[in-house]
Amino acid sequence: FAQQAPFKIGLILPMTGQQATTGRQIEAAAKLWMAQNGDTVAGRKVQLIVKDDTSLPDVTRRVAQELIVNDKVDVVAGFGITPSALAVAPIATQSKTPLVVMAAATSSITEASPYVVRTSFTLPQAAVAMGDWAPKNNIKTVVTLVTDYGPGIDAEKFFNDRFLFNGGKVLEKLRVPLRNPDFAPFLQKVRDLKPDALFVFVPSGAGAAVMKQFGERGMDKAGIRLIGTGDVTDDDQLNDMGDVALGVVTSHHYSTAHNSPANKKYVEAFMKANNKLRPNFMSVGGYDGMRVIYEALKKTGGKGGGDALLAAMKGQIFESPRGPVFIDAQTRDIVQNIYLRKVEKKDGQLWNVEFDVIKDVKDPGKTK
Ligand code: DHB
Repeated sequence: FAQQAPFKIGLILPMTGQQATTGRQIEAAAKLWMAQNGDTVAGRKVQLIVKDDTSLPDVTRRVAQELIVNDKVDVVAGFGITPSALAVAPIATQSKTPLVVMAAATSSITEASPYVVRTSFTLPQAAVAMGDWAPKNNIKTVVTLVTDYGPGIDAEKFFNDRFLFNGGKVLEKLRVPLRNPDFAPFLQKVRDLKPDALFVFVPSGAGAAVMKQFGERGMDKAGIRLIGTGDVTDDDQLNDMGDVALGVVTSHHYSTAHNSPANKKYVEAFMKANNKLRPNFMSVGGYDGMRVIYEALKKTGGKGGGDALLAAMKGQIFESPRGPVFIDAQTRDIVQNIYLRKVEKKDGQLWNVEFDVIKDVKDPGKTK
């Protein structure tokens, strides 16, 4: 009587290189989920296989192929940056393997394969709220500074369109490379242009460098405000950014300071299990991604199967540490609250303190 094979989740993450904080956060969250919920679902043993793609899409593709063909994983998940998710989408389609995007956030990723399900966010989802908030708060002129690839281009477009619609003026749109960016010459240009605010999107892990150089150039003192999506005040780094970050307003789907019993429980357990590391928005994408996979496996009675799992992932509704969320059955993208937050110091630590919310935001990138 042969024992049933374990249900395998291939978790592909940047564990080294420029995006390593994303990998560290998501791996920790996935392990926390399993520690809290066990490694057996509907009688079936669950096995997590973590692989480092160093955030290079060619490596992501090779690793995904090995996981699917050799290890026979039931699901691939993770995907720290957009190019990594896009590299694997055709393989997911071909092999009918659900691909759970826990980090990458370019709107179009869910359209690259019908097997993609997303538990992170999209940049249009986050950026539109800032395009509404800024003009109502004495910000009439802006320079945008984004990392030059999918999510940055999404952030730039959706912020700009909304900001212009609301009567704002964009003085200049600047783009910095993803690999080894040097923000200095771009920030000098912004200082010369003297906008009311600089709108920034940089991926998780790059925010501290922007903040440091923004402060060193005295741009805050020169009266230029810093705004952006919450990637720039990433909770993984925020507490070390110093006073230059105080007062920075961003829009995003998750703050470690989110005030709910579910989040307090999550933050406490995460920090306890990870030597006091603060969970950031990437971690929550990983934690919720594990929930979506577990619930889907449960619904199939432990049987799994690509199409059955995918069907069971669509339409899931649950309370995340970030607030209420659901997986839109049509788009397979996450619908969630977007919060406006301001960096404040409390008990000697820096936090993204939420002060307003736009409820149940669907990805605006899908309706255009
Ligand atoms: C992406 C990566 C990030 O680190 C982030 O904060 C947002 C988007 C991406 O590559 O899609």
